[in-house]
Amino acid sequence: MTRPVVHEGIAALRAALAGRSTALVPTMGALHAGHLSLVELAAGLADTVVVSIFVNPLQFGPSEDLDRYPRDLEGDLEALSRFDGVVVFAPSVAEMYPAGAPGTKVVGGPVTALYEGRSRPGHFDGVLTVVAKLLGIVGPEVAVFGQKDAQQLFLIERMVAELNIPTRVVAGAIERAEDGLALSSRNRFLSAEERRAATALHRALEAAQASADHGLAAAVAAAQSVVVGEELVRLDYLEVVDPGTFLPVGDDHRGPARALIAAQLGSTRLIDNDALYLNRARP
Ligand code: PAJ
Repeated sequence: MTRPVVHEGIAALRAALAGRSTALVPTMGALHAGHLSLVELAAGLADTVVVSIFVNPLQFGPSEDLDRYPRDLEGDLEALSRFDGVVVFAPSVAEMYPAGAPGTKVVGGPVTALYEGRSRPGHFDGVLTVVAKLLGIVGPEVAVFGQKDAQQLFLIERMVAELNIPTRVVAGAIERAEDGLALSSRNRFLSAEERRAATALHRALEAAQASADHGLAAAVAAAQSVVVGEELVRLDYLEVVDPGTFLPVGDDHRGPARALIAAQLGSTRLIDNDALYLNRARP
């Protein structure tokens, strides 16, 4: 067990990292096995892994759960102790935003307004702005993000390419509980009944995959029928997108696609996604 070194200040972090090749794993803390799988992946990609832990106010809307977002730095440091030589960057809000909300922000393209962005206006610009800052602060060779937040990953890849940021973006697979529920720090807010019902998101994605050979309409109908069967699950959106553009695919789309799902369970909002292959059966 080696407790990670923690830096709260940007200058001290930069001094500690000078001359080292780094892989950055940005997080908002409350680390679970999904986050830790990204740390493990990062450890194989550079000499030093930097895990940032920062609940970024810029990506929360006024009516969102910024205050209730779980914070547990001690638990996070303990969870990271199983890795050797991890450096944690845990800045205060004042360290990251000394003048309050920054005047300069990253504004993503039109995909920021779709899916997650539709119910969370400004969310992705807040994400992109903090990720750009973290990449500027750490200057990592590699940055690792989870496929769990597929739209976020797509937008970050776009930003890094379009702003010529010299960091390679690597995606980590979605870690799931045994019953298929994607791990999320928000799962802790589910009641026992909601937790049982929450598997409907993954079951819906599986149903979509199983019907994808017959095209978009069949895949969507199969997924919807799973969700309709779960009283506690209020579907927010179910979309099938082209992985290259993240825009919705048409009925005639043949080939790889990604199904995205978001649903509300009580006061908790969950998202999930998975790859599928549409219209394989079509001549
Ligand atoms: P957070 O929700 O803490 O997630 C940090 C990283 O962990 C993200 O890349 C996310 O996709 C990944 N992750 C979450 N659950 C996962 C799971 N079950 N399996 C694999 N990876 C998983 O995403 C954010 O923080 C923030 O928006 C951030 C990028 C840090 C910017 O503030």
